[in-house]
Amino acid sequence: MSADDSRGQLWHGRFQVAPAQELVEFTSSVHYDQRLLIDDVACSKAHVRGLHRAGLLSEDELGAILGGLDAVEMEFRAGELVFAPDDEDVHTAIERRVTELVGPAGGKLHTGRSRNDQVATAFRRYVVRELGVIGTRVLELASVLATRAAEAGTGDDAAYLPGYTHLQQAQPVLLAHHLMAHAWALLRDLDRLADCRRRADVSPLGAGALAGSSLGLDPDTTAADAGFAARFENSLDATSDRDFAAESLFVCTLLAVHLSRLGEEIVLWTTDEFGFARLDDAYATGSSMLPQKKNPDIAELARGKAGRLIGDLTGLLATLKGLPLAYNRDLQEDKEPVFDGLDTVRLGLGALAGLYRTITFDVARMAAAADSPYAAATDLAELLVADGLPFREAHAVVGALVRRSIDDGVPLVDLVRSEPTLGERGVALLAPGASVRQRTSPGGAGPAPVAVQQGRLAERLEAEAVRWSTAEPESTAG
Ligand code: ARG
Repeated sequence: MSADDSRGQLWHGRFQVAPAQELVEFTSSVHYDQRLLIDDVACSKAHVRGLHRAGLLSEDELGAILGGLDAVEMEFRAGELVFAPDDEDVHTAIERRVTELVGPAGGKLHTGRSRNDQVATAFRRYVVRELGVIGTRVLELASVLATRAAEAGTGDDAAYLPGYTHLQQAQPVLLAHHLMAHAWALLRDLDRLADCRRRADVSPLGAGALAGSSLGLDPDTTAADAGFAARFENSLDATSDRDFAAESLFVCTLLAVHLSRLGEEIVLWTTDEFGFARLDDAYATGSSMLPQKKNPDIAELARGKAGRLIGDLTGLLATLKGLPLAYNRDLQEDKEPVFDGLDTVRLGLGALAGLYRTITFDVARMAAAADSPYAAATDLAELLVADGLPFREAHAVVGALVRRSIDDGVPLVDLVRSEPTLGERGVALLAPGASVRQRTSPGGAGPAPVAVQQGRLAERLEAEAVRWSTAEPESTAG
């Protein structure tokens, strides 16, 4: 384009010279916002049908523009859409290409619309769908954990392991209980996903640049036509707020933080020192130098990538802070962090579901670690409490036995046997697997409450499966 011909830009009319190359390079977003193309085409089709209903497009013009939009989408899906140097963003590219394909009718596509309402609409539609995909994958991972928990059992041969606080052995817990702890956290993530998805599912189309239009358009109908649950209430708000983006990213960031905890645990459990779990070869990696290595890279990246999401979220919030009403170009910075964050959790969820589906738990190692006699110390104290001793005194009695056992190198079981207030009843609590069976309180880690919990988790998972059944199963992200 020559310096005296600025017709490449949608907004060329007011300008006498072409934009500087530096401006184009710095402000262009088409290299990343092209992934909104499919959503933008869908919203544009709803928009032109609205223009037709309002009497602003003839039947022929409507048919021509819809055909042009379909053709652009087909070219894009086939990898054949060529973006032009003047295509500032995907919205510009679509209008340019439709006009090339269908001629002057293409010039009516943007009637009654601004890129400000257009971009917010396409982006919301993208986010709603991607949250649906992520929700489906969260549900899948939670279900895998529930299945593995069911396999771990609650019967006489139920798997158990040490429970930790401060990463020091505390009290034995059933493996089922441990795995379901993660599943419940994921169910809360699912709830947050559904909630923020509902708020994102509002169409800004018809808000125009900031104030609506004079052309008799009906945003309610176009909202429904574009697949939204509702239309905006206020055109200034609709075109300028990105709370749906920030909120979606926060929910995904918290989800990523949960995944990082799962990841850290797998890293620990697969060490020689813990030896609680072995990864399937398909979900582990090797070392380029050390032939014996089997590395838990999925788990490490589940841990590491949470940092990336935290960065995406804080970056977006910083962009939004202090922006005056209504649209500001700063808002173009909303997309990359959301794309990155949502992609990252989506992929992480799939990888972790596969990892957990195929992992082998070494329940003998777990039991051996959990059967340390000291792990039953609280049970001994609670036995004394049942006999009427104040807990603080019971704690002191057992604490003194533990210290003597350590200091004098005498097995705790011998000291318990010769302690008159404990005797054989206390010895019985030190038997392998005995301690965990003492955890009988609702929500606790022993077989009886864990069996109840499994039933409740199964019910929740069924309800979530219904809630997410209409979500798109596959991402359209690149
Ligand atoms: N690419 C822009 C964005 O993402 C589209 C809106 C541009 N609007 C404008 N008035 N320049 O925000």
